[in-house]
Amino acid sequence: MSEAKKLAAEKAIEYVEDGMIVGVGTGSTVAYFIDALAAWKDRIQGAVSSSEQSTARLKSHGIEVIDLNAAGPLSLYVDGADECDPRKHLIKGGGAALTREKIIAEASERFICIIDPSKQVDVLGKFPLPVEVIPMARSLVAREILELTGGQPVWRDGVVTDNGNVILDVHNLAITDPKAMELALNQIPGVVAVGLFARRPADVVIVGGQPPQVL
Ligand code: A5P
Repeated sequence: MSEAKKLAAEKAIEYVEDGMIVGVGTGSTVAYFIDALAAWKDRIQGAVSSSEQSTARLKSHGIEVIDLNAAGPLSLYVDGADECDPRKHLIKGGGAALTREKIIAEASERFICIIDPSKQVDVLGKFPLPVEVIPMARSLVAREILELTGGQPVWRDGVVTDNGNVILDVHNLAITDPKAMELALNQIPGVVAVGLFARRPADVVIVGGQPPQVL
């Protein structure tokens, strides 16, 4: 799969333009994108990063990391996903970076999602849905998610997000209406972000392969 991830990431470089500030996601597919972006470091203004992990990789290549508040609206965001349905709705957050990823996706005109073919599904939910939660609300949110969805929330033990919060992974879901579920889960007090990207889906999906498929 890593070859497919690399091919998707390298295809996404075609969307980078001179002078851009590029929004950058998190994960192993994005790591290939960051490596490819290194060749552009003197042609772009810099990058807005979605995680400490991506920030470290960007800096290791000498790419300037810019605060989103200083950058303003972005024209391009490139990120991976854990699952992608035919309408370009996504599950994200396997790397616990979902909240910052969601913020950057919202701030961006164009969201290019780079995946390997194993991430394509008809119905989202086989991959446990990550939800970032304020620590004191963990049990409350877990109970309410169970009641609302019937899915089984499991605390991702030992993981603290870059924002100091915890992650609940919700198992056994078949998400037939991702937008409705995203909106419903967002209403629970203590939920910081839901790893469903349906209200703001990807605009373009690149599936790595020989050649890459652009959807
Ligand atoms: C990070 O929190 C996630 O949203 C990633 O985008 C997702 O897990 C994809 O990861 P890989 O590119 O490592 O498969």
